Amino acid sequence: MAKNSTWTPNSWQAKPIQQVPDYTDAEALAAVERELATYPPLVFAEEARKLKQDLAAVGDGRAFLLQGGDCAESFADFHANAIRDTFKVMLQMAVVLTFGAACPVVKVGRMAGQFAKPRSSATETIGGAELPSYRGDIVNAIEFEEAAREPDPARLLRAYNQSAATMNLLRAFAQGGLADLNKVHQWNLEFVADSPQGARYEELAARIDEALAFMGACGINATSVPQMRETDFYTSHEALLLNYEEALTRTDSLTGEWYDCSAHFLWIGDRTRNPDEAHVEFLRGVHNPIGIKCGPNLATDDLLKLLNVLNPKNEPGRITLIARMGSDKVADKLPPLVRAVQAAGHKVVWACDPMHGNTMKAGSGFKTRSFDRILSEVKSFFAVHREEGSYAGGVHFEMTGQDVTECIGGAQAISEERLGDRYHTYCDPRLNANQALELAFLIAQELKAERQAKQNGDTLAAAS
Ligand code: PEP
Ligand code: CO
Repeated sequence: MAKNSTWTPNSWQAKPIQQVPDYTDAEALAAVERELATYPPLVFAEEARKLKQDLAAVGDGRAFLLQGGDCAESFADFHANAIRDTFKVMLQMAVVLTFGAACPVVKVGRMAGQFAKPRSSATETIGGAELPSYRGDIVNAIEFEEAAREPDPARLLRAYNQSAATMNLLRAFAQGGLADLNKVHQWNLEFVADSPQGARYEELAARIDEALAFMGACGINATSVPQMRETDFYTSHEALLLNYEEALTRTDSLTGEWYDCSAHFLWIGDRTRNPDEAHVEFLRGVHNPIGIKCGPNLATDDLLKLLNVLNPKNEPGRITLIARMGSDKVADKLPPLVRAVQAAGHKVVWACDPMHGNTMKAGSGFKTRSFDRILSEVKSFFAVHREEGSYAGGVHFEMTGQDVTECIGGAQAISEERLGDRYHTYCDPRLNANQALELAFLIAQELKAERQAKQNGDTLAAAS
């Protein structure tokens, strides 16, 4: 069968493929690909293996996954402060979730490489003019002008360089002191601090301070326990532009195995997950942990086929299934998938992306998402897993540390009329820092309830 044929970093090229930009200068593109292939990897294979282990713990119900960041990173918004603020909000959310779930939180950014966007249509028409769709800054520019929309190979190099610099800063933040638990107060962003969730966060930070002071008195501190002053922060993006991914795919010197060294974690989008096509072919051969977006049209047979192709040895931590059904569909569409995966004995992490099934157009024309529907999808996701006896292992958000107005609702009550105030996304609407933190508190409540229900169940079982 074709799926068992020899894999090479370019075996995907012989398969049908979706979402490929139309470059006019094939020679210029090939030259860029050759150059990229000589550049240093952005991650080390050992780090990807560590993430796989961490995700295996999530699959076992011993940890929780928090994945988040921009829908699309852009060249224009490439600033240290933007990277720092998203990093800080993710740390805040992780602390809130750790408190709720009393379990470690695995942090994965949609950062340092999340540039390429799948589009529902190859062209866009405005006022009678038709141009190629914007496919992310790694391909073309967002302005609705002919020259801007022309795919430009040089953008691949710029995306690589921006990813390298972003990764460098994230590593510095994660290991250089910003992630120190003694700095929990400093993660609270100024514009969040005055809000109800900012205040609630301060309360929690004060409790952490107290705990740290107690532990310090017992001789346990950030000097003796490095985990208290640094954290693992992983990167991820959709593996969409396969020529870019191929150029960064290298053999690991320790194991001789192939890794896609553009990020720790790569996912396959809902539009490119056909088991017989190029994206699945590429990802089956790299040893990174892999995500699969599961939309409402995913048939159980196709999911099982995907799992067999992408994880034939049923390795724990290899596969994260990211359900993005929509708040109105998740209760119907998710249970059959969960049951099929369980019946087949596949070890997976189940995560909830409550963003992509809940996009709508506001009257003003802005693409938006409502906080209530996002929350409702997360709650239904938890309810389905409770019902099916599986573990709701994580969440996947489009979010930013900036004070944007892109999603409506939340405690800030952003209205449709106010979307235009600070609508900056390059693609889909993101939760702002306030909304992201608010959601983390609400999810922490769910996790706490889960944990208590489980403890009660265990107690009952022990007594019977
Ligand atoms: C995304 O995560 O930005 C995305 C395009 O998701 P999906 O493939 O689930 O639509
Ligand atoms: Co998106």
